[in-house]
Amino acid sequence: MNLSLDNIINEKMANVFTTLGLDANMAFCKTSDRPDLSDFQCNGALALAKSMHKNPREIAMMIANELQKDNCFDKVSVDGPGFLNLSLNNDFIANVLQKMSTDNELGVQKITNPQTVVLDYGGPNAAKAMHVGHLRAGVIGESVRRIEKFIGNKVIGDVHLGDWGTPMGMILAEIVRHDGDLSKTETYDIDQITEFYKQATIRCKEDEEAKENARIITAKMQDGEAEYRKAWQHLRKVSIDAIKKNYDALDVNFDLWWGESDAHEMSYKIVDLAKEKGLAEMDDGALIMRLEENNKPMPPIILIKRDGGFGYQITDIATIKRRVDEFQAKEIYYFVDQRQSLHFEQVFQAVEKLEIAPGVKMKHYGFGTVNGADGKPFKTRDGGVMTLENLIKLSKDRVRESMPAAGEVEGYGAKEIENLVNQVAIGAIKFQDLKNNTASGYIFDLDDFAKFDGKTGPYIQYAIARINSILRKAAEKNLTIGQIKVQLAEERDLALKLAALNSAIWRAHNEKEPSIIADYAYTLAQVFSGFYNAAPILSEENKELATSRLAIAKLVRNTLVLLLNLLGIEAPEVMLKKA
Ligand code: ARG
Repeated sequence: MNLSLDNIINEKMANVFTTLGLDANMAFCKTSDRPDLSDFQCNGALALAKSMHKNPREIAMMIANELQKDNCFDKVSVDGPGFLNLSLNNDFIANVLQKMSTDNELGVQKITNPQTVVLDYGGPNAAKAMHVGHLRAGVIGESVRRIEKFIGNKVIGDVHLGDWGTPMGMILAEIVRHDGDLSKTETYDIDQITEFYKQATIRCKEDEEAKENARIITAKMQDGEAEYRKAWQHLRKVSIDAIKKNYDALDVNFDLWWGESDAHEMSYKIVDLAKEKGLAEMDDGALIMRLEENNKPMPPIILIKRDGGFGYQITDIATIKRRVDEFQAKEIYYFVDQRQSLHFEQVFQAVEKLEIAPGVKMKHYGFGTVNGADGKPFKTRDGGVMTLENLIKLSKDRVRESMPAAGEVEGYGAKEIENLVNQVAIGAIKFQDLKNNTASGYIFDLDDFAKFDGKTGPYIQYAIARINSILRKAAEKNLTIGQIKVQLAEERDLALKLAALNSAIWRAHNEKEPSIIADYAYTLAQVFSGFYNAAPILSEENKELATSRLAIAKLVRNTLVLLLNLLGIEAPEVMLKKA
């Protein structure tokens, strides 16, 4: 079933090109940049002109003549040097919407060859409080996970917990210093463990001996000495519980809670493989693997550190091998701070040299930082690190100020208000993040992020709640959903916007870019607003028009709910505002 407008048009174009003996690869049509002139445009004639040694206008005219035979087009024109401009007829558009509205997936195409895609997007570190820098990885990754699932891929979201490096050894060393041994480790909670880590960081900075000691303990823990492993298990468990709380609050989910530690055994195999392939060499006491320097200096991969341990790089390489061997992953994507781009370049190059993931697509989608009003990484008022927990709390406090008090609205006691505060605040935090390109940083603005007017999550939640209210009132008036018609200019604008759903979702999927969905949701809500002002529903006397518009409104509601869901944001049935 081919429901989506962009696909229908492109298929028609390709058929016409083929009929005329033209290369159908050039038939691609895109939504018009000039909606005042046309709905779609195609520049294929210009591309073909060169190879065919013909005037592009002549080719475009030929295509236009053929297209005119199809009555789905209202107007086909050739403009400028040979651009094709296509306008659709209203009945045809209405028909597409009608089909969308009866399809469970709203007419969005599914992927024809589903792949196993591993998404690596958490990256929190054990025993360290999650801070604002961890927001983007989780929020972007969760959205991409939902987009990939919706498209039809088999998705595995992996948190890739930092649970294996020197920090763990530092904490254990600090506990030993404090208690004389590790016997009390299991009585410590996350706050105490975090405190030990803080102390250890200060100590290791000043004291070479303490640093060396932490390194030795890290090696013992990694080598599996029972006492150290047992203590480490506790640190890991307590950390995961604390991390899960943060992710639960944000509705960020993972299919897999693997950590760097889960790559340990495989790291030995990676070392063997590098040796077998003659890629490993000793350098200043470390075992390294050199990489090719194409345009810029490429530091080597450290396979085994001088102290005998494994580091960050080999851990990622070994993890890739496990993902390929155990899940047959065909694509692996990383949503990690862009400051780690060199690390991933090195890892991908090493994987290629080692030939452990042939044909597997890998890419690092580096994100920019979350900044405060001063453009510098977001801090608390006194200049400290903004923990994720604190950020969520501050955001909820802001949102709560805009809500009626418990009991002021019928049916909304303290519990219901708090639930709504949560949905709105988390929606606002996530949308503020996702409306920005992944690669660019942004300013977290506590004054703007939850405004009901403007490009925010609550604005869209509001638009949905407004349509819900229209649907409820219509039901009271026994107004039912009718056959969709497109007549007014505002109806046409909205209809075309709705019909672009498929292409928006597919672009977001291709580019792994949730901001495309955020943008589209925002404009759709705006265009709906224009439609609703021009095309009354509840007060419209003409039954056919009223029931058609109600059908369109419901389709907009369902579309917006889907879009928020793809962003990982909930859509409350009703929204409240302080009187
Ligand atoms: N834990 C790392 C850090 O805090 C981020 C991990 C990112 N993911 C990965 N596969 N390397 O820097």
